[in-house]
Amino acid sequence: MIELIKTIEEQVISAIAELDSLRSFEEARQKFLGKKSQLSQLSGKMRDLSIEEKKEVGALLNQTRRSVELALDQKYQEIQTIEDTKLINTGDRTLPARLPRTGAVHPISIIRRRAMESLKTLGFVMAEGPEIETEFYCFDALNTPADHPARNEKDTFYFDSGELLRTHTSSVQIRTMQKETLPLRIMSPGSAYRRDEIDATHLCVFNQLEGLYVTESVGLAELKGVLEAFFMNLFGDDTELRFRPHFFPFTEPSFEIDIKLKVSGKEDKWIEVAGCGLVDPAVFDSVAQLRGDETFSSKNVSGFAFGMGLDRLAMIEWGIADIRDLITGDVRFLQQFA
Ligand code: DAH
Repeated sequence: MIELIKTIEEQVISAIAELDSLRSFEEARQKFLGKKSQLSQLSGKMRDLSIEEKKEVGALLNQTRRSVELALDQKYQEIQTIEDTKLINTGDRTLPARLPRTGAVHPISIIRRRAMESLKTLGFVMAEGPEIETEFYCFDALNTPADHPARNEKDTFYFDSGELLRTHTSSVQIRTMQKETLPLRIMSPGSAYRRDEIDATHLCVFNQLEGLYVTESVGLAELKGVLEAFFMNLFGDDTELRFRPHFFPFTEPSFEIDIKLKVSGKEDKWIEVAGCGLVDPAVFDSVAQLRGDETFSSKNVSGFAFGMGLDRLAMIEWGIADIRDLITGDVRFLQQFA
């Protein structure tokens, strides 16, 4: 019996060496190790042997099975490599390509670009201002009284010098009017900072896009027309938006703009994306005083302004339920925009 097992092993191993396709491989596994294989049949015959013989034959059978399994495993790897190279060499076009990993534009940058392209077609040009601001540009010149809650240390990051991290991009309105001439149509993207509690719709650093339109005479109709055209252009004609009366120190009247956020699997909800209004005459007058001329005096000009949250716009565009996804840098999230 021992001789027989050894002969079978030799035969099986050399048969395995001959295998050359995955299809023949499965058959061979059954034939050499399955219930009807010679090795299994021999195991069945063990009950006729003496205890001594059982030990010896049993050990040999186990060892043989193991070496057959090993030979099969090695063969399997070999065949797979061969088949892979065959596929590659025959140039199978159904093989998925292995693309290198590439970088991608962040969703905030995508939406910022689109928003600015859109405002550009409406005649707005780029303007910039610093992120470290003075109370004057961030609050006083924007008609914000000394006791306004936004100026509170609990809401705003102050430096020991008395300067602060701008709480909004509206400070750029003042900086631009200080040095430019009429008519003025500017857009100003940038970061703003607030000591907000972080949650699904608030961050303490966020991205705004400010707009200002100043000319001899402009009113609410223009404000509404421009902003509606802008949001429809950005999100499509079926965008649902509403202007809700509100208060800002630097505009009168003032509104907040809400857009319906649609996240699949969740209920639709209105989220606030922008503030806007007609520039308060007090703002023009502080610019006139700053410049020492009457170019922007409230007697000569009127204007409208708006400031929107780009993070919120991204949430609407892609149905993002949690604003924190935009800053945590999780590649699984970001790759969706690649
Ligand atoms: N600065 C406001 C904010 O951050 C947004 C805003 C409202 C900007 C009205 C404006 C405006 O220019 O006219 O909440």
